[in-house]
Amino acid sequence: MQVQEKLSQQSTARTLPFGEKSLLFAPMEGITDIHYRETILENYPEWDFVSTDFLRAPSVGPYPPKHVLKHYGKSSYEDLEKRRKTIYQMLTTEDALTEDTVSKIRGFGFKWLDLNLGCPSKTVCKHRGGSFLLSELKALRKVIRTIRSNFPETFTAKIRVGYKDDTLFKDILMLLEDEGVDAITIHARTRDEMYKGVAKWEYVKTAVETVKTPIVGNGDIWTVDDIKKYFEYTKCHSVMIARGALKTPWLARLYKDGQQDNQALRVQEIQRYFNSYFQRIDKLDMEELKKIRRLKAISRYIFDDLDDGDQKKRAFLLSKTREQMFGVLESL
Ligand SMILES: Cc1cc2nc3c(=O)[nH]c(=O)nc-3n(C[C@H](O)[C@H](O)[C@H](O)COP(=O)(O)O)c2cc1C
Repeated sequence: MQVQEKLSQQSTARTLPFGEKSLLFAPMEGITDIHYRETILENYPEWDFVSTDFLRAPSVGPYPPKHVLKHYGKSSYEDLEKRRKTIYQMLTTEDALTEDTVSKIRGFGFKWLDLNLGCPSKTVCKHRGGSFLLSELKALRKVIRTIRSNFPETFTAKIRVGYKDDTLFKDILMLLEDEGVDAITIHARTRDEMYKGVAKWEYVKTAVETVKTPIVGNGDIWTVDDIKKYFEYTKCHSVMIARGALKTPWLARLYKDGQQDNQALRVQEIQRYFNSYFQRIDKLDMEELKKIRRLKAISRYIFDDLDDGDQKKRAFLLSKTREQMFGVLESL
């Protein structure tokens, strides 16, 4: 490493933009686009941050800047508060145009860049990106170094505990710490486990005991009690929630207000949430069928805890028109 680069890494006593026990709304490809994130930020501002899904760095030919902006979404780019509360996620490989992509993200003023090192997709891993990098530490170091030296603001990595198994887990943590990553989010499963079983919270506890870098716990946090137990058990800095946040988008508010969920509240919030999201996407130049598909995509876990939830979910998913869908929602 060049001396200057090393110096710049050593002098980085960066302040994290999020305090302890922050609640982060996880990136979800196909869900967390600008319209969805705006719905969350406006209706459920108790989430400390939301995240874009991943922008894949190109391997041939740099992206035009507008592509990097489009990934964030233009509609609320000018809204500084929304931008401040958004993590920009990217995915890259050893040979991709990492430096160029990072510089463009930085050029648009994004203050928090997250590297996706957890994606289990066969295509992504075949191209040596996402969780694959957890098995190739030399390539991983190179990628992290490139990003770190081109992004002086908050740079975090979102990992799994390994690729095929967890043997490199501690090495990965130490590598990320060594290279000056500001925080590490851990989805406590290996890549090969995909979504099997329940994420093992022990890994997050181990990580907290292994490195000084703040650890963000992720994986199978569904309820207010889970959040409390998670903080108590793992002592992690913050948590990130994906499926639990899709199931209960108002979860951050429940946690912060010390409330518990209940049926009446669920019904009221589900109606509010779908109405708000639909009003937003209804303004877009988008085919009706696509709008309906989007509503179905965000409904994945939301009916689960309702009385007769299975039946209501089925009726919602079988709906062919907006009238039918909102009919189901009104009769919850
Ligand atoms: C539909 C879906 C899409 C996802 N897309 C991304 C993504 O773009 N980037 C990422 O880092 N993780 C992605 N993930 C993983 C989640 O962010 C999270 O790490 C994982 O679901 C475990 O957390 P959970 O148990 O709270 O769901 C996705 C998960 C789901 C369910």
